[in-house]
Amino acid sequence: MSKNVIFCYSGTGNCLDMARNIARILGDTDIVMMRAEPVVTDVREAERVGFIFPCYGGGAPEDVLTWAKRIRIGENAYTFGVSQSASYAGTGLAELDKIIPLKYWATVTHQCSCIWLFPHTMMVPPVGAEQAQKRSERLAKQIGANVREKNCSEKKPPRNALNAAENKAWPAIAKKKAAAFSVSEACIGCGQCVKLCPRGNIRLSGGRAVIGTNCAQCLGCLQYCPQSAISLGSITDKREHYHNPNVSAADLMEKLIHVD
Ligand SMILES: Cc1cc2nc3c(=O)[nH]c(=O)nc-3n(C[C@H](O)[C@H](O)[C@H](O)COP(=O)(O)O)c2cc1C
Repeated sequence: MSKNVIFCYSGTGNCLDMARNIARILGDTDIVMMRAEPVVTDVREAERVGFIFPCYGGGAPEDVLTWAKRIRIGENAYTFGVSQSASYAGTGLAELDKIIPLKYWATVTHQCSCIWLFPHTMMVPPVGAEQAQKRSERLAKQIGANVREKNCSEKKPPRNALNAAENKAWPAIAKKKAAAFSVSEACIGCGQCVKLCPRGNIRLSGGRAVIGTNCAQCLGCLQYCPQSAISLGSITDKREHYHNPNVSAADLMEKLIHVD
C-alpha cells in the first residue's frame, strides 16, 4: 500500500488527469479507479486518502457513494475530496462528507462531457479546451500543495436543496436516457467500449457493440469510440466529441495506477 491513495471516478479523463497531477505532487500514490468491482477497499495504512470525481446531475455519480461506503480508512488519515464539473459542483462532496468526513475539499470546472445536454465548450468560466486544461493543471498544483501540507478547509462542502433534488432524480433519468443509445454500422466490434464501461454494461453481439440500460452516463464509450459509432439521441452526432487530451481510453481501463 502506498503512502497516499486517491479513489478516482472518471468517464472522459478530466478527473483522472487531475488525480495524476495531484499524485505527482504527493509522490508515492496509488490511484484506485472506481470501476465496477472495487480492487482496493481497505486503506487503513494510508496517510492521505482522497476522492476525485465528476459532478453528474447535481451530485456525485451514484457509484462513488456506493464505493465510499465500502472503504475502510485509518482513524488518523488526512482525507480530501475534489469534484470536477462544467459549471456547478452540486452536492457530491457534501454527500461524500457524510460517509467519510473530509478534512479538505476543492471544486474545479473543466470542459463539459455531457454532450447530449451541452456542447463541451459550455463551461463556467467559458474558456476554450486548451485554456481549460491549463487552468485545471494550475489548480491541480494548488490543490496538490494543500493536500501535501495537509491543510484543512474552513467550511463544510456546500449543499443546496435544488442540486440535491436533481441528484436524487438522476439515476432514473440516466437509465431512461440510456435507452437512447444507438450503435451505427461504423462499429467494427473493436471492443474498446466493452473494456471501458465502468459498469460492464456493454457487450459485443454479431461483431457490434450493444449497450444496456445499466448506464452511469459517463459517456466514455461514446467520447472515445475510434469510429464515432456510438450516439445518444440525435444531438451527439452534431456536436464535437470531447475527452481530456492527456488521458487515453487505455488509461481509463486501468484498475490501479501507481505514481512514484
Ligand atoms: C452525465 C453527465 C452529467 C453531468 N452533470 C453535470 C452537472 O450537473 N453539473 C455540471 O456542472 N457538470 C456536469 N457534467 C459535466 C462533468 O461533471 C465534467 O465535464 C467533468 O469534468 C467530467 O469529468 P471526467 O472527464 O473525469 O468524466 C456532467 C457530465 C456528464 C457526462
